[in-house]
Amino acid sequence: MSKKDIASLVDDRPEDGVFRLHRSVFSDPEIFELEMKYIFERNWVFLGLDSQVRNPHDYMTTTVGRHPVVVMRDGEGNLNAFINSCPHKGARLCHLAQGNRKIHVCQYHSWSFDSAGRIRGLKFKDDGQYSPAFDDDSHDLAALPRFEVYRGFMFGALSADVLPLSEYLGEARTFIDIAVDTSPQGLELVPGVVGFTFEGNWKLQLENCSDQYHFTSTHPSYLKVLDRRAEKGWEGTVRANVRGRGGRKAMQFPADGLEHIAGGSTSFEHGHNLNWNRRTVNDSHPLFERAEELKEQFGEARRDWMFNTRNLTLFPNVQVAENASSQLRIIRPISVDKTEMLTYCIAPVGESAAARAQRIRQYEDFFNPSGLATPDDTINYEDCQDGHLNPVAPWLQGHARGMMLASPDGDPFIDRLGVKALSSVIGGVELGDETIFHTYYRSWRALLQAGQRADEAAARGQPAPAPARLVETVR
Ligand code: FES
Ligand SMILES: [Fe+2]
Repeated sequence: MSKKDIASLVDDRPEDGVFRLHRSVFSDPEIFELEMKYIFERNWVFLGLDSQVRNPHDYMTTTVGRHPVVVMRDGEGNLNAFINSCPHKGARLCHLAQGNRKIHVCQYHSWSFDSAGRIRGLKFKDDGQYSPAFDDDSHDLAALPRFEVYRGFMFGALSADVLPLSEYLGEARTFIDIAVDTSPQGLELVPGVVGFTFEGNWKLQLENCSDQYHFTSTHPSYLKVLDRRAEKGWEGTVRANVRGRGGRKAMQFPADGLEHIAGGSTSFEHGHNLNWNRRTVNDSHPLFERAEELKEQFGEARRDWMFNTRNLTLFPNVQVAENASSQLRIIRPISVDKTEMLTYCIAPVGESAAARAQRIRQYEDFFNPSGLATPDDTINYEDCQDGHLNPVAPWLQGHARGMMLASPDGDPFIDRLGVKALSSVIGGVELGDETIFHTYYRSWRALLQAGQRADEAAARGQPAPAPARLVETVR
């Protein structure tokens, strides 16, 4: 197979005001294979929150690329991540999404392992006539080459040759901090998970979370419901913490010369980004009961940012969407045109019952296949996927809004946090910036090209380039 020319698929010429993507980025099965190999299986991937494995012997299962993985907390409280495959003949060891077990027994031939991944029993070992060479081998579960946790967010990599996690997350860490600091005990997942698939490429979900432009077009039914509730003043109706036409009227920004700015986009190295909308500190947010306390603890700038809507994407597979409510989304690519989503309501540990109830009602309102937004989004992904097979007009025009505004020099809002972005854009409600997607594809391109280079070097018997080199290729 000839080498896929990755650079030819991203028409990236900022000096000419051009950024275009070739549709095959979303529809070519060969590209999907490269993504699995070079992005999901040679890079950091989000696994879950450590609060999902809070107690000794808790475990949770997930995937990294195409491989089953299990995260376990051992009896001493240490967290480890392993390939969820028995060393004997490869059977999946843990079948449930999560649970608690001191000993995991493989269902196939009963080899057993403790919660630290050590072999504890090898059935009929003494009668097995094993060779000394077999005895010299480790029979423990295979640990992921890299596993690290940042503020409760667990990441793993199938390659040891990745940047330190803190460097990989970089400046995006500030927005993990802002989410986690909403509670002294961090974040947890509200019980219950929703899983669904859509017949579309995984990057459609990646983009949509950062896509402000679609909101008023894709979700008119939601906006109409908000308007109607506002008109009727319905007793007991949840006030949504989201920009609807009714909500927009109520917004009052400080008279600081920036009243026309409704929000913006912020891009970071390694494909991470944030889009956000300004919100006043008001009681439509479940955090309102702790507004003063948060200001004292973290300062006014951070507290105010906690009330802004924030959609954070940590490339390649996790999004923390804090808009109508708060949602953790894990993206699992299955094939070039099929993606599985696992979504959870995410919440500060220990919030009051009233705040939790408000959060969950807002969550049900907007999210999930039963909510007012998710089905509208997923049908769009499927329509796009069909269109991405079109060979007649291969270049998409969906990455150009905001190009005249994108700046590497920060903006007054992120500057308050001391955050250094690769690029940021601020503007009015109708800006709908699309430059926020550029960091995805620059990192995507860099990772795919680095993977190709590494494999070529290996084929020549040379060492692979260091992972830090990736940074240089990301503008
Ligand atoms: S495959 Fe697990 S014990 Fe045989
Ligand atoms: Fe949407």
